[in-house]
Amino acid sequence: MEPMELIRRIPKAELHLHIEGSLEPELMFEIARRNGVEIRFKSVEEVRKAYSFHNLQSFLDIYYEGAKVLLHEQDFHDLTRAYLERCREDHVVHTEIFFDPQTHTHRGVPFETVFKGIQRALVEARSEWGISSKLILCFLRHLSEEDAFETLRQAIPFKKDIIAVGLDSSEVGHPPSKFKRVFDAARAEGFLTVAHAGEEGPPAYVREALDLLGVRRIDHGVRSIEDPALFAEVVRKRIPLTVCPLSNIKLRVFPRLEDHNLKILLQKGACVTLNSDDPAYFGGYLNQNFRETVRALCLTSDEVRTLCENSFEGSFLSESEKEEWIRKIRELK
Ligand code: HPA
Ligand code: ZN
Repeated sequence: MEPMELIRRIPKAELHLHIEGSLEPELMFEIARRNGVEIRFKSVEEVRKAYSFHNLQSFLDIYYEGAKVLLHEQDFHDLTRAYLERCREDHVVHTEIFFDPQTHTHRGVPFETVFKGIQRALVEARSEWGISSKLILCFLRHLSEEDAFETLRQAIPFKKDIIAVGLDSSEVGHPPSKFKRVFDAARAEGFLTVAHAGEEGPPAYVREALDLLGVRRIDHGVRSIEDPALFAEVVRKRIPLTVCPLSNIKLRVFPRLEDHNLKILLQKGACVTLNSDDPAYFGGYLNQNFRETVRALCLTSDEVRTLCENSFEGSFLSESEKEEWIRKIRELK
């Protein structure tokens, strides 16, 4: 099957998606209107024009600004449901979603409001469309350790529905070591762990995420390859890298998609997965990321299959669920 048809038909899991980053400008305006929240943009076009970034921080400033319209449980529900509709279109059958509670609790929105809105949409998507999901709570790394501890405390009543904790926001200057004690406490509560590392930050941050935070996956991790010993370990231990090509171009981690190292990482045997990160801001959902990456890097159909098998292997599904999806991929002729 040629790659473009394969992309449409193959079942896939998404492992790196910030729910706040799926807020499309149209929905931002609709929610702002019904909540009576002022936004600094006059039109959808003006919002899209502002989505021109030169690094991670310039994106984060706009991303936190957009999230200010989200106030009520229904808002978080509608946001999540809209993303899950896109999953359905792209044949994403399983998704592991990041949410950033501190972005909301710092504005006075209770943790419970955020969680319940997202969770209700996840339950609906499972029953209506058969899409399975997991939730991952991300700590904002530009905030303090104490703030992360407070967020962890707020999550405890909901822990049966939150599979893992992660680390996002401004990477450089906020190494994983800053959160070692919070991650120890989270693991003691039964949470799995992941962390953004090696996006803008150096390979040393990937090393810390593995050794100090006990992470099961590295989010991005494209700079791991700069440290040969580290990269050899990532390959040997099959530590999944949740790579987000369109994000990396928009945030200038690589100058052009043609320069992205995804194909090299894959050819060197890393467990690479492909993801959309913040699709409303970076120009496309999962299949768009696949299409553009296949074109720019001349990925073969076999490489597309490997990326999709890796997405299930690297997921937090049970071993039997993983095997079932991988078998379905292998049967797809
Ligand atoms: N990196 C760090 N923080 C983020 C990202 C990202 O790609 N997306 C949303 N928050
Ligand atoms: Zn991310």
